[in-house]
Amino acid sequence: MENPLHPLGHQVLSAALEANGTGSASLSRMSRRGFILAAGSLAGCAVAQPLGMTNPNAESVRTQANTAYRTPVIPGQSTPVAPVTPPPATGTSPSSGITFSRVQCPGKYIAMTYDDGPHSQHTPRLLEMLKARNIKATFYLVGTAVNLYPGIVRRTVAEGHEIGNHSQTHRLLSKLSDDEVRKELTGCQDAIIRAANVKPRTMRPPYGGLTQRQREWVHAEYGYPTILWSVDPLDWKHPGAAVIGQRILAGASAGGIVLSHDIHGQTVDCMPATLDALIAQGYQFVTVSQLLAMKTAAPAKS
Ligand code: NI
Repeated sequence: MENPLHPLGHQVLSAALEANGTGSASLSRMSRRGFILAAGSLAGCAVAQPLGMTNPNAESVRTQANTAYRTPVIPGQSTPVAPVTPPPATGTSPSSGITFSRVQCPGKYIAMTYDDGPHSQHTPRLLEMLKARNIKATFYLVGTAVNLYPGIVRRTVAEGHEIGNHSQTHRLLSKLSDDEVRKELTGCQDAIIRAANVKPRTMRPPYGGLTQRQREWVHAEYGYPTILWSVDPLDWKHPGAAVIGQRILAGASAGGIVLSHDIHGQTVDCMPATLDALIAQGYQFVTVSQLLAMKTAAPAKS
C-alpha cells in the first residue's frame, strides 16, 4: 500500500536521529511519533534496519491457539463485545474520580492496552494472537494512523476490542492551549468514528501528560476518563521481547492496566508467551471500560 508519509520519511528520520543524539531518554514528541511512522514507511529501506525499529524476524513468531481461555462474562454486561454505539463509561463521574491507573475489582481481572497504532503489520499480527486466545483488549489510537489504516481499525472493532482516544498527532497535551487540545481530541475521535463508527469511551494522553484542570474539562466535554497505567514495560526503548514480557509479568496485578505499544515488533513478538503466562496465572482479560464498570458494580475492599 502506498504510504503518504513516504516522501517525508528521510526528513523526519533525520530529525529523529538528531533528537536521539542529544542523549534524551525519549525522542521529542514530534520526532518520536514521526520516527515511528518514518521507520514504518522505510521498512524496505536499509537505513531503517540498523536502528532496530523494524524486526526482520517478526513474521517468525507464530501464534498458537490457546482455546482453554474464555472471554469472561462481566457482571451487568450481557456481552463482552463492545457495542457499536457504546454508552458513556460508568463509574467515572467526578465524584468517583476521572483518572485511573488501576482499579479495585472483585477478581483477577487485567486490561491490556496497546498505544499509538494502528500499525500496518504489527497490529494485524497482534489481533491474530488475541483472537487465538479469546482476549479482548483496548487500543489507544492516534488519529493520523487511523486515517492511514482505517481498515485495521474496523477489524479491531469487529473483533470485539475497545478503541480509545490517544490524540490526533501525539503531542504533549499538557503544553497545549485548550483549543489545541480540543483539536487533538476531536480530530482523533472524528477519525475513529469515520473509520469504524464507534466513539471512544476513554482517552489516554500521550506520555501521560495532562494536567488535573485539563482532565476535568476533557471529562466534562468529551465524557472521557483519563486512563493511565499500572504497568509500563518501556517497550518503546526496544529492550527485547523477553525483557518486555518479563516486565509485564512482574508488574501484573488484579485490576491492573498494562501499557504497551503495538507499533513495535518486539512488543507483539512477546505477546503469545506473555498472554499465555498471564492466563496460566489465572488472569482474565477485560477492556478498560469493562474494568471501570466492574469497579462500580462491585468495589473490592482494599
Ligand atoms: Ni503514545
